[in-house]
Amino acid sequence: MGERALTDLPVVSLADYAERARAVLPPDVWDYVAGGSASEVTLAANRHALDRVAVLPRVLRGVDTVDLGARLLGRRYAMPVAVAPMAYQRLVHPDGERGLAAAAGAARIPYLASTLSSTPIEQVVGAGAEVWFQLYWLRDRALIEDLLDRVVGAGCRALVVTVDVPVLGRRPRDLRNAFRLPADVLAANLPDGRDALAHAGAPGVSGIAAHTAASFAPALRWADLAWLRERVDLPLVVKGLLDPRDAVEAVRVGADAVVVSNHGGRQLDGAPASVTMLPEVVDAVGGDAQVLLDSGIRSGTDVLRALALGAAGVLVGRPLLWALSVDGERGARDALALLATELRDALTLAGCAGPAAAADLRTLGVG
Ligand code: FNR
Ligand code: LAC
Repeated sequence: MGERALTDLPVVSLADYAERARAVLPPDVWDYVAGGSASEVTLAANRHALDRVAVLPRVLRGVDTVDLGARLLGRRYAMPVAVAPMAYQRLVHPDGERGLAAAAGAARIPYLASTLSSTPIEQVVGAGAEVWFQLYWLRDRALIEDLLDRVVGAGCRALVVTVDVPVLGRRPRDLRNAFRLPADVLAANLPDGRDALAHAGAPGVSGIAAHTAASFAPALRWADLAWLRERVDLPLVVKGLLDPRDAVEAVRVGADAVVVSNHGGRQLDGAPASVTMLPEVVDAVGGDAQVLLDSGIRSGTDVLRALALGAAGVLVGRPLLWALSVDGERGARDALALLATELRDALTLAGCAGPAAAADLRTLGVG
């Protein structure tokens, strides 16, 4: 199908943004966003595993209107969905982080702002969403302390520590493309935002991987998280674990929530789909923390699957970046409205008046 025919068709599912984004993005940027690590087995597994979760609908339950509202970290949001933290959003559209955060604000869901944002955190908060700040642990502790002060001062509502990036996964597409940031896209939260490494790829080298290797502390321990828990008086989320034993450790150091995630298949290739590990993590954590899920969520049906398996909510990554690529803030707003429509539809068809009711649905592994 030609490009023209594609854009003439209405967008009727969140998935429709992917092919449109591919048509407008430079190929190396498309690859950076869409790609995964190594053989991309885990990237594919995320989709396969979600598709295999069959949800048993209930009938005749007198559900008239569905309320999508959900409590995450003790705060009320319009649906159990948050925007996943994603680096360098100005790569895909000049609206960048401000556009996607404004769309999250309009949808009344949390926007998770990456440490590697191409817009400073203060400006992201100014765009109107409730912002949860995602921390990458930097080698320089003084830098972390400065950043944490800015995060608290800017009014962020939670701190999300990503723990699955001791180093960036090896991503063949980026290595082949010698992927690097364009001159006008910076790591705007960091004082070395113009870091030459991120802006200089070379054959077989990803600029982003070189920059993170130089900036991130690879040898984090649980004690470091305990230090953070003491220092920052915000709800704490640990993002990027799959093993229930790690979830138990996270709760022990005081996490209020965990995100079961394989980073969208971008880190350890060969790791299981995150949805495969969700039930075990939910069991291990009990009621002691909320369990969120990401990696591969592409529709309202996927959100229902996660809720039925015990998640309190999900993070959505690439689809929102694709919508931002296509039409900036407006595209992201439309995408979130579509996701709400899809979720409302899925809950209605499953006989659920809201997200909480979905936790009682039975699921089967099929296919
Ligand atoms: C990410 N992800 C990510 N995670 C994080 O904690 N900090 C970050 O800066 C980034 N950056 C980033 C950039 C891009 C382009 C992508 C696609 C992903 C991972 C992200 O938060 C999330 O875990 C996955 O994207 C979820 O999978 P889906 O929804 O993209 O399949
Ligand atoms: C990524 C990083 C930056 O996945 O988290 O590209």
